[in-house]
Amino acid sequence: MQLRQATPDDLEAMTEVMVSAFPMDPQWDYRFPLRQEYPKDHWQCTRVMLSGFLRRDHFVVNVIVAPESEDGGGSRNAVSLAVWELQYEEAGELCLPGCDERRDANPAHMKAFDGALSAAKQQYFDSVYGDRQVHLWILGTHPQYQRHGFGTKQCVWGMEFAKAHAAPVTVFSSPMGGALYASLGFRTLGQVVVQVEGEEEKLTIGAMIYEDGRRSSHKYVGGVLGWKHCRLLLSLLRGVGSHP
Ligand SMILES: CC(C)(COP(=O)(O)OP(=O)(O)OC[C@H]1O[C@@H](n2cnc3c(N)ncnc32)[C@H](O)[C@@H]1OP(=O)(O)O)[C@@H](O)C(=O)NCCC(=O)NCCS
Repeated sequence: MQLRQATPDDLEAMTEVMVSAFPMDPQWDYRFPLRQEYPKDHWQCTRVMLSGFLRRDHFVVNVIVAPESEDGGGSRNAVSLAVWELQYEEAGELCLPGCDERRDANPAHMKAFDGALSAAKQQYFDSVYGDRQVHLWILGTHPQYQRHGFGTKQCVWGMEFAKAHAAPVTVFSSPMGGALYASLGFRTLGQVVVQVEGEEEKLTIGAMIYEDGRRSSHKYVGGVLGWKHCRLLLSLLRGVGSHP
């Protein structure tokens, strides 16, 4: 199975993976309860979000190509994707042009979700590890290709990258993701509750971390290569176009 860095040619396939896989994560129903009524809004805003990740310098988006398309199927057949933030600079807001008026989402739930996860990211990850962490934003495998080891391979890429830079991997986990991360040695730091005041409906999301057992948090400063080398490494990866 081939893991490589995504290109804009992968956008359609990556969008398909997300809109197919993420309804299996409870946060999707919570945030986008009207996606079946407004499938175009849902597709377009998911695509715009992924396109934004592809353009951001300090993010890496990796895809795994369907095994049957490895011999000439081209780049359209990505069936698994992972979005990594290599936090060596301030992330800033992710803009979604044209999505202010999206009709597939529940705005109150979106706001509660973003607020709770921003606060939890600060509490569990950023206040301890600062910009010396590798954060997994998105991991999804198309339902037809799940349980073939693609999610594991995506995680192992990030874990190896993080280890090489003496940094931890951090992630907010869905129930399916949580089982996978736990099997790979991640541990749970806490549970994040997302809930709008006055509503019964709520989400519970795990804040999880993978650390190379040999190191403690205060030793991350500087890392093995020095964190600024991430930028160089990233540009080298981009130049090559694929990597293990
Ligand atoms: C989580 C996910 C990315 C795993 O991808 P994958 O390619 O199937 O990963 P793997 O084949 O390496 O599977 C590893 C583990 O994931 C879990 N898993 C994968 N598919 C599953 C399914 N259909 N039902 C329940 N658990 C599943 C299992 O724990 C599995 O281990 P097991 O087969 O030994 O029981 C995938 O299930 C997915 O896209 N889920 C929906 C989106 C999501 O929740 N993403 C994670 C956000 S934090």
